[in-house]
Amino acid sequence: MLIYFIFLLDFMFFSKSGAEMTSLKVINELPSSGYSNLQKLESKPDEKLQLRMKPANFSGPDHLRHLAGRCFKYQDSKYEYVFCPFQNITQEDIQAYYEPYKGILGVWADWVIEDNQFKKMNMIEGSLCGSGMHRSTKVILHCSATSELVSVTEPDKCRYTAKFETPDVCGKNAMAVYPRLPPELQTRWDDAEYDRHYGLLTKKGYQKELEKIFLAAGYYLSPEDRSSLVYKASTDSSKNCKAELMEAKSRINELEEELRMKEEMILEQGAGKKSI
Ligand SMILES: *[C@@H]1O[C@H](CO)[C@@H](O)[C@H](O)[C@H]1NC(C)=O
Ligand SMILES: *[C@@H]1O[C@H](CO)[C@@H](O)[C@H](O)[C@H]1NC(C)=O
Repeated sequence: MLIYFIFLLDFMFFSKSGAEMTSLKVINELPSSGYSNLQKLESKPDEKLQLRMKPANFSGPDHLRHLAGRCFKYQDSKYEYVFCPFQNITQEDIQAYYEPYKGILGVWADWVIEDNQFKKMNMIEGSLCGSGMHRSTKVILHCSATSELVSVTEPDKCRYTAKFETPDVCGKNAMAVYPRLPPELQTRWDDAEYDRHYGLLTKKGYQKELEKIFLAAGYYLSPEDRSSLVYKASTDSSKNCKAELMEAKSRINELEEELRMKEEMILEQGAGKKSI
């Protein structure tokens, strides 16, 4: 549509070239305002940072809830990272001056549970990272006096590890899983322990049963919930695109209308000159 607009202008310049200098000046002032408006629509700052998955619901120890909605920054020599617990983790190039790279390293999904402890936050479905892979990050939680993001590394290509320190995870029971389960899931876990102890369940079978328990508790995201969150984000962003397209279209209509008016003015002025 921008091309159409330029074509319209070119047509006016070339078809009336030379003779009518005053008319050309009128046209010259018009497009500059039009262009800047269209460019504003084209380069919305957040456009590159469209989440491809909606963050999952909060889950885990209730006393971590206050971290949701807060964000923590960390800078190394090249990037600034922003970690928003239960939301997202992003990366921005701080060395580049022109259009710095911004990427999503992951969107909140679920927990990594090890040894009966909530150990890491699983952030998935980040920005594309070559060969169809999406970036993802495991945020390891460490006990400390203050809450801060202290490091982000990329041990494997597109697979990041972040360290987040917070007093919320200090103490033996602060991150224990079992006491937080509803009674019926605690009973299931007890049964699995018993069965494994008496050889009725293999180690693998026991692990599988624990996985099911964590899924039922909402600590693990099921593949179905994951794809529904991805789907929701895509329908949201197509809604955004539609709204922007409508806005751009109506702006173009306005500009075309303005152009027609100016054209008429030019024709009138031209006619005026000839009659002098
Ligand atoms: C997340 O929370 C919303 C609102 O409380 C609820 O409707 C939805 O089912 C939850 N999603 C999952 C996957 O638990
Ligand atoms: C990440 O989460 C924060 C906190 O909710 C939010 O303000 C920000 O817009 C999110 N980032 C993206 C790229 O959606």
